[in-house]
Amino acid sequence: MGKKKKRSHVGDIRLFSGSASSELAHKIAEHLDLPLEGHDLVCFPNENLFVKLHSSVRGQDCYVIQTTSSPVHNNFMELLITLQTLRLDSAARVTAVVPYLCYARSDKKDQPRVPITARLVADMISSEADRYMTFDLHAGQIQGFFSIPGDVLSSFSILTDHLKALLPNMYQPVVVTADLGFAKKARNFAESLQTPLALIEKRRTGNDARAKAMGIIGEINDHDVILVDDEIDTGGSIAEAVHLVKQFGARDVYIVFVHAVLSLNAAERLAALPVKQFICTDTIPIPPDKAAAFGDRLTVLTIADLLAEVILRANQGRSVGALFDE
Ligand code: R5P
Repeated sequence: MGKKKKRSHVGDIRLFSGSASSELAHKIAEHLDLPLEGHDLVCFPNENLFVKLHSSVRGQDCYVIQTTSSPVHNNFMELLITLQTLRLDSAARVTAVVPYLCYARSDKKDQPRVPITARLVADMISSEADRYMTFDLHAGQIQGFFSIPGDVLSSFSILTDHLKALLPNMYQPVVVTADLGFAKKARNFAESLQTPLALIEKRRTGNDARAKAMGIIGEINDHDVILVDDEIDTGGSIAEAVHLVKQFGARDVYIVFVHAVLSLNAAERLAALPVKQFICTDTIPIPPDKAAAFGDRLTVLTIADLLAEVILRANQGRSVGALFDE
């Protein structure tokens, strides 16, 4: 007797790749053994975007995979327009799969007369999608800005599994965070890797991207250092941190981060640092010229298999939390 197909009340999975995440979307599709659905994306001379689906999605479970890295506003509008197109075509359910969520650092009013743009972004996604998925939000509380349910996933086990394989070659490794906002997560890294933890105090001097590393809490002299952070944007924070740990007697330095924003000349800036290895994920694709700057010191770990599994479970109405316990 043939295997009974598990039917989902939200229809079959339909995967759509946004233009910012095509490599990741292809990997997810391959893992699920499903095609990427065809659609046209047109940019008119006035810069307005237009989307047309190649076939109907009525009654189907649709996933739009689109990260919101540079060019941020184009990619974000493309995401919203694609979500709306699917909704208007009577999809049973539409999920925004946004591996890197833009504006996540604008998550509070920490000075008078400023916006909370992460809330605005969440509102706009919530207005067009039924659900969302994202990775390693800058602050967990951003989940509360969404009025739709979502899966905020973590690349923690992907990164720590890789680091565990490197540990035997490290000398007295210590996990260090360059950002006190990342301290709890850094502690989880240290616990998982069974290493001590040290913290760098960093201050931003204005609303521009400048960061200054002030001092270190913890012992790093004569240790290999694993510097962890959620994202590297201009590379300013991490460059300061590397100089500081070297000044305090660190041996080899490894830089581990989730989101490779790598704005401006960050890639060249990082590549010039005395760092043994850079390890990150593919929530944001790294353009070949930027990747080339790192040579063989860059390792990009994929989130595709995890995301594919989560999409499958979401479609089948199975627990995603249980996946992380398995
Ligand atoms: C800050 O809060 C984040 O955790 C990162 O430390 C920050 O985004 C890095 O920015 P940059 O690379 O521009 O210093």
